[in-house]
Amino acid sequence: LKNKKVLVRVDFNVPVGDDGIVDDKEDWRIRAALPTIKYLIKQGAKIILMSHLGRPETSRKSIKPKVYKAESQEYSLKLVANRIEKLLNKEIKFIDDCVGDKVKRAVKEMRVGEIVLLENLRFYKEEENNDKKFAEELSKFADIYVNDAFSVSHRAHASVSAITAFLPSYAGLLLEKEINILSEAMKNPKKPAVAIIGGAKVNTKLPVIENLTNKFDFILVGGKVANEILNGDKKMLKKNPKVKLPKDFIWINNKNNRLDIGMETVKKYEKIISMAKTIIWNGPMGMFEKEEFSYGTRNITKALTKNNAYVIIGGGETIAAVNKFGDLEKIDYVCTGGGAMLEFLSGIKLPGLEALK
Ligand code: 3PG
Repeated sequence: LKNKKVLVRVDFNVPVGDDGIVDDKEDWRIRAALPTIKYLIKQGAKIILMSHLGRPETSRKSIKPKVYKAESQEYSLKLVANRIEKLLNKEIKFIDDCVGDKVKRAVKEMRVGEIVLLENLRFYKEEENNDKKFAEELSKFADIYVNDAFSVSHRAHASVSAITAFLPSYAGLLLEKEINILSEAMKNPKKPAVAIIGGAKVNTKLPVIENLTNKFDFILVGGKVANEILNGDKKMLKKNPKVKLPKDFIWINNKNNRLDIGMETVKKYEKIISMAKTIIWNGPMGMFEKEEFSYGTRNITKALTKNNAYVIIGGGETIAAVNKFGDLEKIDYVCTGGGAMLEFLSGIKLPGLEALK
């Protein structure tokens, strides 16, 4: 790697406060990417970091035709640069574009061990279109490509998929670790194995529950997903003895507006959790941001760290809940992936991983 220009796809999609600052409780995705970056520094590489930030819908650029308009500062990776510098204790150079002359010049001037951070990839619509030409433009400045963004590997985007056609491509240390940990938990979980699935993204969660019933002993369901199963026609899930659904709720206005799981359910879930040797959790039990609907998520968070189970959590809301009601340090593995973790747990092939093969 000495002297080689390494283009690393990271996921620095982190919450940025109204003051434009990334809070130190919200920088876990950046911290997770540090081992690969530090490894590359040590090896004497020149490191070019690229990421997306949020989902900018407006002010899009395009490499053809050129309609470069001032992009929104709200989505600029410049906002994240300071936090990276602080965590690495090293200066990085931010370039306000991800292809073109500015990048070319900056990369040409790079010395061994230096880091360049490119602007938000999603300012180009070609990124999400998995555009080959755009991927080729990105690849021009580098010798090697590394995907260290498991959390975006479920997207067939140019910087995770199309790019692998243009450079020798490798998995980063974080990507490798996430896949190893999740694969092991899926294939050989220490028993009893318990999954806790909640939150709102019902369509992505039902396949996870179905797939987990193969190897896991209990799937404790909460949040909107539970409502969907209870109200809908998911007879198979309702009948499966491994799938536990809430018996009582905390609701508002009418009984169909269930915003949290109730005390009886929490008690039952706590009991199952206390026996577990492996726990995977994705999705809160209710609208925990509001105090009056935080009971379920708060108590599940507490229950997780009471025994010696191996605990994996993932998803932005779940991590926020643990940050709020517990201690992230006590969790054995915090997966950087939200949607990606769910798709992986569903058994779906992720485009970013397939492209590396
Ligand atoms: C995430 O936050 O899960 C990843 O960064 C992917 O972001 P996306 O859902 O906007 O593609």
